[in-house]
Amino acid sequence: MTTRNVENIDINLPNLIYALWKKLKEQRKMQIIFLFCFVLASAFSEVFSLGSVLPFLYVLINPIGLWNLTFFRNIFIFLGINNPNYLLLPMTVIFCLCIVFAAFFRLVTIWLNCRLSAAIGSDLSCEVFTRTIFQPYKYHLERNSSELIAAINIHIPQSIYSINLFFKLISNAIIASSIIIALLIINLKIALSLIIVFGFAYLLISIFIKNKLAANSLFAVNATQNQLSIIQESLGGIRDLIIDQNFNYYIKKFIKYDKPLRIRDLQNEFLGSFPKYALEALGMILIAVLGFLIKSLSPSTVNAIPLLGTIALGAQRLLPSLQQVFTSWSAIKAKQENLKKILDILDRQNYNKNFNLGYSEISFNKELRLSSISFKHLNQKKSIFENIHLTINKGECLGIIGTTGSGKSTFIDIVMGLLIGSQGYLKIDGLNLYSGKDSSRKIRAWMSKIAHVPQSIFLSDSTIAENIAFGIELNNIDYRKLKNAIEAAQLNDFIESLPNKYNTFVGERGVKLSGGQRQRIGIARAFYKNPQILILDEATSALDIRTERKIMEKVNCLSKDLTIIIIAHRHSTLKNCDRVIEINGGKIIKEGLPKDVLY
Ligand SMILES: Nc1ncnc2c1ncn2[C@@H]1O[C@H](COP(=O)(O)OP(=O)(O)OP(=O)(O)O)[C@@H](O)[C@H]1O
Ligand SMILES: [Mg+2]
Repeated sequence: MTTRNVENIDINLPNLIYALWKKLKEQRKMQIIFLFCFVLASAFSEVFSLGSVLPFLYVLINPIGLWNLTFFRNIFIFLGINNPNYLLLPMTVIFCLCIVFAAFFRLVTIWLNCRLSAAIGSDLSCEVFTRTIFQPYKYHLERNSSELIAAINIHIPQSIYSINLFFKLISNAIIASSIIIALLIINLKIALSLIIVFGFAYLLISIFIKNKLAANSLFAVNATQNQLSIIQESLGGIRDLIIDQNFNYYIKKFIKYDKPLRIRDLQNEFLGSFPKYALEALGMILIAVLGFLIKSLSPSTVNAIPLLGTIALGAQRLLPSLQQVFTSWSAIKAKQENLKKILDILDRQNYNKNFNLGYSEISFNKELRLSSISFKHLNQKKSIFENIHLTINKGECLGIIGTTGSGKSTFIDIVMGLLIGSQGYLKIDGLNLYSGKDSSRKIRAWMSKIAHVPQSIFLSDSTIAENIAFGIELNNIDYRKLKNAIEAAQLNDFIESLPNKYNTFVGERGVKLSGGQRQRIGIARAFYKNPQILILDEATSALDIRTERKIMEKVNCLSKDLTIIIIAHRHSTLKNCDRVIEINGGKIIKEGLPKDVLY
């Protein structure tokens, strides 16, 4: 369902905004339309409040003059006022009401705008996170995790800000247009001269700064992402950094991006706001010139003052609106790369949809078979495997040996369906997992039967119990199963020695535990899952021989139906296996009983 790739979209704002509109939920689109109704109401109330200034000023200075204008006289007679001297109070009330309405609608519009931008932002943020974590494993192998962190922590807030500004831009454009129309009605020539001068000024400035804003936007996006990855790397490897005293290396890299980033941020801020001051001055000069001209040309100053006052007030309202349109445009332009990044992620295939379909139940009663499997990592010239054939029977315990880097871990990733062979097939009881539309659902079903203890165990910063019953809500943990798993993984003594027992927190990535304790938590996690296939990838390498032997005894005593695959460099770990294979140079070079292959 991949649609047009945003990377190919011309970076031009209308295209980006249209691409974003297409990604919005129907509900949000309706809310945007509702918001625009308020924007329109706000614009009209603004025009009315401006329109009420002229008669109000007239009433203050020259009520007879206003009464003599047929249009206004008819309105007053309709309202039951028959004498120009009684105009002051009703006009004051009308004027104040118009101002109150305008302020009310503006406030409501701003509130709705913020509310809606936040809702859209949250939709985008959740969708970006979900879509990213649902991508297949091979996608994650090629990406740096800083991309997702930058997307959620930087690009999303910036995009929300842009959406907010976009609504502001539209509402101010409408308000500015209606003020212009009102001014045109009040005095065509004066209004035209104002529009031409300000219109040209803003147009020229935007043409002049457009490319600079876009370039700064691109720089900011790349620099922030690189900075994030520097932060992650330095903190992730803080032990080595301290031991090797490599601080300067990371600080230099950090500063390299930081300074230009801050400068460009400021540049964009300045470019968006400098016209305000320049054009305000221009506006005041223009009003002074108009005042001079009106005074010189018109014999009656009394009538000129309300007109000039209205125009001045109109300009005073028009200029902030125009400036807001301009600032919004320049800020959106300066954030366009952030929006593009988000749209780019949203354009990726939505595997979440497949996931929601659940998985097709598959049975594993006989064997798993790999036929003619070849595998190559993306952008790698050489295949890791060529034409591998292997059948593993249910209930069998298979040992795998091979030199480091020979492809043992990759091989089990293929067995688990985490990586897909570029050629060949993976069959469970004769059912090919690679074929058919429901291939991903079959693979998920297969994965649900497997517990895998990897070379390096991932631990979340939560309690030991939560790390063993991984991904299960605290309330739903089965404590009987948990205790059995702890015992089987030889963790009993260790956990009993802790003040909070299995409710002890393990620290970020398990920093508060030893390597062997981490490994045993990984093994306990696999036992807790109660799998049909148990895969141990160097899972006991950090343990002393006695602890390892005890765990292996537990493993061997598990159900006869449990299929076990063990990768180990230490040959003693594999001596009780039913069969051992040796992988080398992309092939299975030896296969047989442990005594034949190992010794
Ligand atoms: N994402 C990747 N992209 C490119 N090459 C990769 C990737 N992951 C692994 N490799 C390469 O694939 C080869 C096999 O790696 P693998 O981790 O399967 O080896 P291994 O036999 O498990 O090694 P060890 O005993 O050290 O754990 C290695 O040469 C490695 O460099
Ligand atoms: Mg490995």
